[in-house]
Amino acid sequence: MISEELTMKTITNHQVVVTGHGGPDVLEVTEAQLPEPGPGQVRVKVLAAGVSAFDLIYRRWAHLPGRPDVPFTLGEDIVGLVDDRGPGAAAFEVGTMVAGATWARGVGGGYAEYVCLPEADLVVVPAGVDPAEAVCVVVNYLTAYEHLHDIGGARPGDRVLVHGAAGGVGTALLQLGKLAGLEMYGTAVRDQHELVAALGATPIDYRTEDFVTRIKYLTGDGVDIVVDPVGGSRHLWRSYRTLRRGGRLVWLGSAAVDKQGLRVGPLSMATVFLLRLIPDGKRVPRCPTMDKYAKAHPGWLRRTLTELLDDLAEGRIQPVIAERIPLEEAGRAHELLERGGHRGKVVLTTGAYRGRSAFRQRSRHDQSNTE
Ligand SMILES: NC(=O)c1ccc[n+]([C@@H]2O[C@H](COP(=O)([O-])OP(=O)(O)OC[C@H]3O[C@@H](n4cnc5c(N)ncnc54)[C@H](OP(=O)(O)O)[C@@H]3O)[C@@H](O)[C@H]2O)c1
Repeated sequence: MISEELTMKTITNHQVVVTGHGGPDVLEVTEAQLPEPGPGQVRVKVLAAGVSAFDLIYRRWAHLPGRPDVPFTLGEDIVGLVDDRGPGAAAFEVGTMVAGATWARGVGGGYAEYVCLPEADLVVVPAGVDPAEAVCVVVNYLTAYEHLHDIGGARPGDRVLVHGAAGGVGTALLQLGKLAGLEMYGTAVRDQHELVAALGATPIDYRTEDFVTRIKYLTGDGVDIVVDPVGGSRHLWRSYRTLRRGGRLVWLGSAAVDKQGLRVGPLSMATVFLLRLIPDGKRVPRCPTMDKYAKAHPGWLRRTLTELLDDLAEGRIQPVIAERIPLEEAGRAHELLERGGHRGKVVLTTGAYRGRSAFRQRSRHDQSNTE
């Protein structure tokens, strides 16, 4: 008993915190006490945590709604092992592998060795699944599913244009689109065309080709759905022009913020407002972010995440992982994402992940080997 207490006292929680606002160098590894799970919560020993475009925005800009005071920890999606249970938490045995998002904590929390989360926000990861692949499903595939099916209303045979097709959300959209029997087109730089084609889409070079002209040439009258994670007035307007009558423009993000800054958000909203006024049979549906959509549709997240993890376990989807990077090198992960040209999702792994040799296998699409 005494030695158990001593062991508990020596366990610390290494976490990556944002210490200011700016470049990747504001990320620092710190040691904190092991967090204690509250009522209805479990403590998760993190194996893999996702890195997203959202994290870069919250690191870079100080004056964002909902941005906590520094120091704070980023990371929206995690996979790990249930390590302890708080009062009233009984859904999972200690040692169960679970996946989920950290939204209950506000912004972030996932770039850590341990995190406490409500058990109601977690689902079991099927046996044999690589936690680094499972963590891609939590935000990227759920986002892709929501925007393609729940908002976009995709039906088999629909033509769909996906922008940012080689990125984390883009590759998820292509895989889910292929599963749903959609005719897919994807914008990406030339270097990524082989990947986009391997995922079942016709690639279009967004740097050297006019995607509006190209879509009209390839399809005749345009596409049924365009999923636009780039944003900005001009880009959204051009996306809208690729639609045929009855088509839907699904705006899900503002990757253009990289080059154009934070004004992309309000400009995109104003553009969407104006496009909705055009009486031409096309639609621009409301596109709540995935956390808001999940809150408004109780049960949707757990049900859809469970189904997608089953798809992963049975090989129907295979996430594209740009690189698995040790948690303590989170700054390098941000540099990689910021530089662009990556394929799929960047995943942080903890020592607990790297100690599990069974998960050292690589995804078919992995860009490099860093371990
Ligand atoms: N609504 C939601 O709930 C939700 C959830 C998750 C993500 N998102 C949003 O979705 C977007 C993508 O996230 P992510 O994590 O997938 O980021 P990511 O992995 O960095 O992917 C972004 C992709 O967009 C490409 N891109 C940049 N500018 C482009 C352009 N003008 N035309 C075509 N492609 C372009 C990038 O290509 P290069 O490498 O060539 O630059 C990259 O492949 C972000 O804006 C994010 O905030 C929204």
